[in-house]
Amino acid sequence: MFDAISMAAFILSFIIVALTMKRTDIRKTLLVTPYARNFPLPPGNKPVFRWIHSLMEELNTDIACIRLANTHVIPVSSSRIAREILKKQDSIFATRPLTMGSEYCSHGYLTIAKSGGNSRDKSEELQIDAQKGTEEADNLVRYINNFCIKNGGFAVFDLRLVMRQYCGNVARKMMFGVRHFGKGGEDESGPGMEEIEHVESVFTVLTHLYAFALSDYKIVSAAMRNISKYNDPFKTEPQDFLDMFISAKDTDGKPTLSDKEIKAQITELMLATVDNPSNAVEWAMAEMINEASIMQKAVEEINMIVGKYRMVLESDLPNLNYGKACVKEAFRLHPVAPFNIPHVSTADVVVDGYFIPKGSHMLISRLGIGRNPNVWDTPLKFDPERHLYNNKNVELNEPDLNLISFSTGRRGCMGSNIGLAMTHMLLARLIQGFTCDLFMAKPLHAVGTPRLAPQVYPT
Ligand code: HEM
Repeated sequence: MFDAISMAAFILSFIIVALTMKRTDIRKTLLVTPYARNFPLPPGNKPVFRWIHSLMEELNTDIACIRLANTHVIPVSSSRIAREILKKQDSIFATRPLTMGSEYCSHGYLTIAKSGGNSRDKSEELQIDAQKGTEEADNLVRYINNFCIKNGGFAVFDLRLVMRQYCGNVARKMMFGVRHFGKGGEDESGPGMEEIEHVESVFTVLTHLYAFALSDYKIVSAAMRNISKYNDPFKTEPQDFLDMFISAKDTDGKPTLSDKEIKAQITELMLATVDNPSNAVEWAMAEMINEASIMQKAVEEINMIVGKYRMVLESDLPNLNYGKACVKEAFRLHPVAPFNIPHVSTADVVVDGYFIPKGSHMLISRLGIGRNPNVWDTPLKFDPERHLYNNKNVELNEPDLNLISFSTGRRGCMGSNIGLAMTHMLLARLIQGFTCDLFMAKPLHAVGTPRLAPQVYPT
């Protein structure tokens, strides 16, 4: 993610000022001086996030400061400091950095997540009709099942592709009320060429959002053109987000959003919907296929609560506690990105005793917090049981920020309810419907065999 940033910084003569950050008696330690030390650049193509984390480990610190030209970039890998930033001092850190990539992808900051402003009401949360997620779960199961039938009882399928397409379908249904841009695949539950191109372009844009260099312009602009090619011609359908944006009026009865703002916002919500759920389920499946006892427990839970004669429904999800714990482990151990979307400080401020200058870019480390050995025992082990103590109902939101799922505060996720339902439904339907064995790891392919009687599968 930070390869492009590090290249730019190299050209601008890269200075790293990192701090031992040992707490001293003086509470107001200056974060950037006087402990300035120069560190070597990360070698070769090693991702910069790994280098940042290993540097922090070497310095035994949960907060550091990396100076890129005039910008202080401040990675944080402890939940305690994250709480101070995202809860206690949230109003100071509620803005986003202005970068070339985010400006380009948001048509000049016309969207919620990329906007520099911080005026969102905490209670704003996007909702969709639960039926849309269930319809898509039916389509997913039908697609894999038909594949198995055609193949004589089992099939090798690309888990990454089906998960990403499930998310793409839910996103298209939410935005436009349709699941396919064209005719769909040969079997109409599956994706057609248009959907594959659309979702791939969405992931290309996501990869470059905060790591955009001029040399990436061609790649990102081609991906943005593809997304616009499919998104822009849409007309409104009652009940979808597009309709909602078009009909929103201010107190004088004038449209709240311009056409350009609506287009930018639709693209942003597409980006926000596809990456987290598909990544979490891909990792959960990989871990569960590797550890048969975990898979077994999750299947037994579904057999007990839902039975073998119907498919999991949205109303079952809150009762599938073990399944939720598996999703939570995937969020903790394998976040979709090493860092949260950056937050920028709008004033000089002291956090945990350290001075943070105005304009600093705070990088809350999803990886560092989720794997922090001071919070989690055996942090690298995929162990859903750790979330199940005291027979507790597992919550996927983590307001204490011991892991970053949906984050919190003014910039917390606006689609957590939708995201939760999508993620859990996707995992539950896959493990209920099919026995999966590993076929190929990269991208993850599984050999799937239907688990239930043929009449239970959607036709
Ligand atoms: C499993 C699913 C999801 C996860 C884990 C997730 C997680 C997150 C996280 C960590 C952030 C950044 C918060 C911060 O900067 O502190 C975020 C922001 C956001 N998410 Fe989600 N998200 C998910 C699904 C969704 C969905 C389905 C939507 C829309 C329908 C959505 C819409 C947004 C928006 C608009 C923002 C930007 C908020 C802002 O900057 O004010 N997310 N999400």
